[in-house]
Amino acid sequence: MSEDYIKKFEEAKERIIRAENSKELEEIKREVLGKQGFLTQLLRSLGKLSQEEKVRLGRLANEWKETLEKLYEEKEKELKYKILKNKLYQEKIDITLPGRKKITGKIHPINQVIEEILSVFKEMGFQVVYGPELETDYYNFTALNIPEDHPVRESHDSFYIDKEHLLRTQTSPVQVRVMEKKKPPLRIVAPGKCYRRDMPDATHSPMFHQIEGLAVDTDITFAELKGVLTVFAHRLFGKDRKVYFIPSYFPFTEPSAEMYVECGVCKGEGCKACGYSGVLEILGCGMVHPQVFRVVNIDPEIYSGFAFGMGPDRIAMQIYGIDDIRLFYENDVRFLNQF
Ligand code: DAH
Repeated sequence: MSEDYIKKFEEAKERIIRAENSKELEEIKREVLGKQGFLTQLLRSLGKLSQEEKVRLGRLANEWKETLEKLYEEKEKELKYKILKNKLYQEKIDITLPGRKKITGKIHPINQVIEEILSVFKEMGFQVVYGPELETDYYNFTALNIPEDHPVRESHDSFYIDKEHLLRTQTSPVQVRVMEKKKPPLRIVAPGKCYRRDMPDATHSPMFHQIEGLAVDTDITFAELKGVLTVFAHRLFGKDRKVYFIPSYFPFTEPSAEMYVECGVCKGEGCKACGYSGVLEILGCGMVHPQVFRVVNIDPEIYSGFAFGMGPDRIAMQIYGIDDIRLFYENDVRFLNQF
């Protein structure tokens, strides 16, 4: 029995004990216990030996074989357990982790207010229509009884694209576009963006919104205008909010008025939000001017109508208690998320 075999046995033991994964272990098994392994070689060589040696070495070889097989089985179990432990660790779900918040888009606060206003008018039988933001001088001014030299044009500091086209300064041109196409009875509301060359500050933005309203029929009176707009204000701000109509001037209505509501912050006492007046201007309105009817071929002797125009941006500021209009247009999600 050569030293060689003893060394090989010790080496094989060591390798099995040290094996780090099942692939390596399988390889060792094949090399040590397989047909080419040293144990098989040893057993084969026994034939040439004396009977006494045969018995002794045969027994030894079997002992070694058993030892190595036992070691192999233990190692195999150990490695399997290691794999399972790893798997369990890696696939573990930590149920104490806080959930991930799904961020979804939202309707912009101004659009929420516009939707709310429109829904009140829709319930009263008004249809929602839209007009272009790029308008002609004719629709934006002339057809609305604002001729070229009219002083009102100056207060609408406009973005002209060329001599004839401008970004609309108001939604009132939609009135004209609707009356050109459809004959009375008409009840429409037209929301949309308007543009004026105003320096941005707490209450001005070069882009802002308006909602236009128009009702035309054979016997529309100023009383109906007051009735519809009062119902609207009560629906939006609550029934106990006082409303006031104050005479005013617009070239496309006669008579004209402005509607005010009692300030919701101070209940009419006077505060910073209402400029210490106790009231807030909500909209301009009036009876459609006969000249506007003539332009669209509606006979002012037969038909009458009322119109109104309001600024939802200012109304949104009032509803949400926002004191700077620019906040709505900076698109800071920390601000927008609050609505
Ligand atoms: N377009 C007017 C403005 O921008 C608001 C307005 C006033 C609209 C009276 C109307 C109205 O329809 O009747 O100042």
